[in-house]
Parts: sequence; structure tokens; C-alpha cells
Amino acid sequence: MTERKLAGKVVMMTGAGRGLGRSMALALAREGAKLALVDLDGEELQQVAGEVQDIGGRESVIPLGADVCDPDSSATAVFYAIENFGRLDVLFNNAALGPQAVAADPYGNPPKFWELDPYTFTRMVDVNAAGPQLMAASAVPNMLQNGWGRIVNITTALDAMYVPGMGAYGPSKAALEAHTAIMARDLEGTGVTANVLIPGGPANTRMIPDATGIPREALIQPEEMQEPAVWLASVQSDGHNGERFIAGHWADGLGKASAPCAWPQLGKQAILPKSVAR
Ligand SMILES: NC(=O)c1ccc[n+]([C@@H]2O[C@H](COP(=O)([O-])OP(=O)(O)OC[C@H]3O[C@@H](n4cnc5c(N)ncnc54)[C@H](O)[C@@H]3O)[C@@H](O)[C@H]2O)c1
Repeated sequence: MTERKLAGKVVMMTGAGRGLGRSMALALAREGAKLALVDLDGEELQQVAGEVQDIGGRESVIPLGADVCDPDSSATAVFYAIENFGRLDVLFNNAALGPQAVAADPYGNPPKFWELDPYTFTRMVDVNAAGPQLMAASAVPNMLQNGWGRIVNITTALDAMYVPGMGAYGPSKAALEAHTAIMARDLEGTGVTANVLIPGGPANTRMIPDATGIPREALIQPEEMQEPAVWLASVQSDGHNGERFIAGHWADGLGKASAPCAWPQLGKQAILPKSVAR
């Protein structure tokens, strides 16, 4: 029998109750990872935990009902994962609110930014941008102690960050994309890395409603996230830091599927005082 790629690894997946999070969690379990599954408490989370148990056994998974953008709740989830499994190797920041949280029909009838409800706007930035920071800040000390670890942030296609109707969603994902570049630089030389993983376009989950008119089979399927997720969680991705990986291009090789995360080429345009060395 071939060695499973994630034997001995402990992985935390946020937003694991459905969609891309569920799909990645199942693939990680099949490769031998132990899983801490985080989502807002509910039936879906328990169901996915049951599916992971069927793959890896009773001791291979803990479901943790938590709100990623609540400082106490996110820290407690990480604490329990480490208490239960003795370590935490990989954190996937996948939980998010989608464009439908701010508008009934963001694709067919995109709202103008001044029409967005202020509370929904700030909640989305909280979940999508602040949540990953809270989770990562709690998780990283254990990874640093172990001298190895992974932060994988799920953002979105760069174009989707500034399309009309993506108010709140786009900016929240742009913030996480930029934050990943900062995380990666802070982590240089530690054995812990921070990278971005995206489907590459609209994916077949509840985040994309039927109202878009795109046939479900033409969307990127959640299973396409599985191979890159396993690779990123494994030692195979050692040395890759501060990059973005596109699942939809995975089959074409890293040359096409990867690029530096955020906008390093535009950063070179900053006019800095001569005394500020870079
Ligand atoms: N579906 C797409 O087309 C698409 C495209 C690009 C990027 N993404 C990104 O992929 C990730 C997964 O998206 P999906 O399509 O599976 O979405 P989804 O809506 O099916 O799943 C998101 C999950 O996050 C959970 N969640 C929401 N708020 C939370 C909170 N505060 N705390 C804990 N959990 C919370 C939800 O309960 C849900 O289970 C997201 O980050 C999304 O932005 C999706």
C-alpha cells in the first residue's frame, strides 16, 4: 500500500459544512489527515464530520461550531483542536459569506455600493477578512513551535474583486489576498508558509445561485479543489510561500496554476523616499 500523503498531519478547515470546504476536507481525510472541522454550529457540520469518520475512523475528526470572526470563538476552536490532536499543522481559511449576503440578485441585478446595507457590509468584511487573521493568529504559534505549518487562504479570482455587484465580497477578498502576502513575508524562514488557493471562477456550490443562468455542470466542480488542497497541506509544497494557486488550472501544471499572491508587480510603482531601503 502506498504511503498516504497526509498521515500524521492535523488540518483545520473552516467553512467545512458544505461546498468547497466539505470537498477539500474529504480529500484530506482520504490522504490520512486528522481533521478539525469548523463552521457555524449546525447539522451540515455534523454531517460532514460523519463522512470524515467513515473515511478515517472515530478519532480522526472533531466538529467545532465556531464563528471565525469572533475573537473568543475562533481562539477556542484552535485551542480545542490542539488539545484534542496534540498539534495543528495546517489551517485552511475557507469560511466566507458570498455576494448573496449583501444583495438578493448580485449577478442579475448588481447593487450600487451606496445601496448596500452597512451592517451586512461590515459583517462580510469581518467574516471574510478579519476571520482568517483571527484563526491564523491563534494557529501559528503551534506551527512555529513545530517548525512546520501551512496557512491556506481561499480568496477569489482577481477580476471578481472589482466587478460591479461584488461590493463587500470583492474588497473583503482583496484584503485577504494582500494579507496573505504579509503573512508569507512574516513567516519566511520558519518552515510555516502562507499561500492562496482559489477555484479560478464560479464554482458549483450554494454561493453561486441558479439565477446566474450558468448550467451547474459548466461551473468549476468542488472536487477540483481536492488535489491542490492535498498538495498544499503536504510536504510536497515545501518552499512555496506567498503564492496563489488556481485549482481550475491544476491539471496544466504549476507554471499555469501558480503566480505570486497579491500584486507585487504594482507594488514596484510606489515612489519611496530615497532613505527608505526595500
Ligand atoms: N463558489 C464559488 O464560486 C467561489 C469562487 C471563488 C472563491 N470561493 C471561496 O471559496 C470558499 C468556499 O466557498 P463555497 O462556495 O464553498 O461557499 P458556501 O457558502 O457553500 O460555504 C461557505 C461555508 O462557510 C460557512 N461560514 C460562513 N460564515 C462563517 C463564520 N462566520 N464562521 C464559520 N463558518 C462560516 C458557511 O456556514 C458555509 O458552510 C469561500 O471562501 C469563497 O469565498 C468560492
